[in-house]
Amino acid sequence: MPTSKIARLESDRLLAVIFEYMTKITVETDIEKMVMNLADLGKELVSADRCTVWLHEQSEKLLWTVGGHGVQKITIPDDSGLVGYTVRTGKELNIEDAYCDSRFNRTIDEETGYRTDSVLCIPFHNAEGSIIGAFQAINKLTETKIFTDHDLELLKIASNFAGKSLEAFILRNELVETQKEIITTMGEIGESRSQETGFHVKRVAKYSYLLACLSGIPESEALKFKYASPMHDIGKVAIPDSILLKPGKLTEDEFVLMKQHTTIGHNVFKKSKRELLQIASIIANEHHERWDGNGYPKGKKGEDIHIYGRITAVADVFDALGSDRVYKKAWPLEKITTYMAEERGKQFDPRLVDLFLDNLDQFIAIRDEFIDGSDV
Ligand code: C2E
Ligand code: SIN
Ligand code: SIN
Ligand code: SIN
Ligand code: FE
Ligand code: FE
Repeated sequence: MPTSKIARLESDRLLAVIFEYMTKITVETDIEKMVMNLADLGKELVSADRCTVWLHEQSEKLLWTVGGHGVQKITIPDDSGLVGYTVRTGKELNIEDAYCDSRFNRTIDEETGYRTDSVLCIPFHNAEGSIIGAFQAINKLTETKIFTDHDLELLKIASNFAGKSLEAFILRNELVETQKEIITTMGEIGESRSQETGFHVKRVAKYSYLLACLSGIPESEALKFKYASPMHDIGKVAIPDSILLKPGKLTEDEFVLMKQHTTIGHNVFKKSKRELLQIASIIANEHHERWDGNGYPKGKKGEDIHIYGRITAVADVFDALGSDRVYKKAWPLEKITTYMAEERGKQFDPRLVDLFLDNLDQFIAIRDEFIDGSDV
């Protein structure tokens, strides 16, 4: 049965898809800053005390805002309040006294101790005309305390602009999400051929992120590392089933071939200029190097091994030892931690082993969240 050939073809096609997406994506996650800027713009334009930009999560039936102007991040049901009315009906509102309007939702005022009087609400749309959110200005700062028709027009202009920028942003964000999903799926394919569940790559990514943060790598870097981590064993797609799925111990020749999964993965990614794929390339290449220089493929030593390679080594082996493989049974936890401690300064970066053992409960928590065979 030519299953391995099919698996190989499938992987080639998926790799092509990844590369296609990568070239379209820039990693930008600063929607909060952008929403705040839009809120500032609205506030200035109409001399409001506060301005809130609400985004509609259609699938969740929620409206949310990152807040701004003294308000915390808030989520409300999309059928609630004046803003809910605007988003549902597409109608603009210019309300003189919110407390005289039955649609007004007082809970936010009650929670914040703020008093809402006058309110402007304007929906904003995407290019197809669907409503994706609303602008809300609260409390006119002039003596009359009432928003004018001119304010309404001004806020409409801002809202038009906001709709366009936010749509561009949301689309780009979806691409980033898609990119992450494809990477994880690809990693799972690498694993699935060796009969692993998808949880192996998820766990290794989470352990790696945790260890990166503990070792002082800035969170934004650690996140990129986490997204690239599922690709560490992608080179296994090129290893024949007869070796990958062998129930027993590999012969020396077989292990020589198996070791090539590192350089194969490295070669797949090294030409890419995309940042995540550059990181994936490093991880694939260096995750089986050893601190003492006896690892593969290069026999690099100590801090010559990239910190991402050293971290992945700890995360990957911790997970491999705790899991059933075709060639071995899972080890009990105590045997694993003893092994990790014994390999401190031999297989593993001693500083990373210390961080791992000192924070073991956090690693166990991740392990217990993604148990093989469970249905997370
Ligand atoms: P893997 O099964 O995910 O193991 C990853 C790493 O975890 C191994 O890298 C090794 O450092 C550690 N590890 C896993 N199981 C054990 C164990 O029982 N004892 C010890 N001391 N360490 C363990 P390594 O050795 O470079 O192997 C890389 C990959 O090669 C493995 O990934 C697996 O896919 C394959 N492999 C290694 N040995 C065998 C084998 O005897 N039979 C088969 N079928 N595959 C093997
Ligand atoms: C509402 O739109 O009814 C409440 C929202 C708010 O007061 O910020
Ligand atoms: C596996 O596919 O057997 C796990 C791969 C690894 O973590 O090295
Ligand atoms: C780094 O963040 O790359 C340095 C940390 C280390 O070498 O352990
Ligand atoms: Fe590996
Ligand atoms: Fe692995």
